[in-house]
Amino acid sequence: MEYNELLNKRRSIRKYLADSVDDNTIEQLVSAAVTAPSGCNSQCWRFVAIRTPEKISALAEAVERGVRRFYRDAEDENFVASRVKQTTFFKNAPLVILVYLTEMKYHDPRVEEYYSAKGYGHSEMLSTLGNPDMLSVGAAVENLLLKAEELGLGACWMNDPIVSAEEINEFIGAPEGHHLMSVIPVGKPAYVPREKQMKPMNEVLELI
Ligand SMILES: Cc1cc2nc3c(=O)[nH]c(=O)nc-3n(C[C@H](O)[C@H](O)[C@H](O)COP(=O)(O)O)c2cc1C
Repeated sequence: MEYNELLNKRRSIRKYLADSVDDNTIEQLVSAAVTAPSGCNSQCWRFVAIRTPEKISALAEAVERGVRRFYRDAEDENFVASRVKQTTFFKNAPLVILVYLTEMKYHDPRVEEYYSAKGYGHSEMLSTLGNPDMLSVGAAVENLLLKAEELGLGACWMNDPIVSAEEINEFIGAPEGHHLMSVIPVGKPAYVPREKQMKPMNEVLELI
């Protein structure tokens, strides 16, 4: 597909056909993701692809537990139920990819040492530098989404379920220090999304 067409066609898809996604396709998606640029070439990402329906249901249950834990003081059950619905719609997808941030070390250890001497922890240092670790993972996710589009698949970049990171990590057995960044359901699209209006160029671009 031509590049601009691919960019314009990629949309968030939230309902999927039942067709499964084979392991070769999953590898193609992750191969596209890992070609992304990353701070200090740290390739600070890890992907967990869940394609067993029972496991996806169990993941949705873990997310629901986390949402109910977080909103335990909310009085309106309808509101809580709507949060559960919005965070677990991935349960109908044949594939759900969890995206983890692993670790980004600065390529020159003297930089880290200098920050440390000034009292900055590792994450404060990265925050001062504009969070290159998180941006790297974001770049990988966008690559993955574009590859999904090229392969005729729909996907949705989800961060709402991250409120349940604790429950998800326990369910997955995620290693210590791996941070869950996003949840991406993938499947053949079950509908055509409505057109999206982009902000006008003069609002998003300043030419100096
Ligand atoms: C970092 C990030 C987090 C997002 N989290 C969610 C989410 O939790 N649930 C959801 O339905 N969509 C989520 N989205 C999708 C956005 O709502 C969507 O990208 C936006 O409305 C533009 O629509 P489009 O992707 O179809 O172009 C997220 C997108 C990004 C980039």
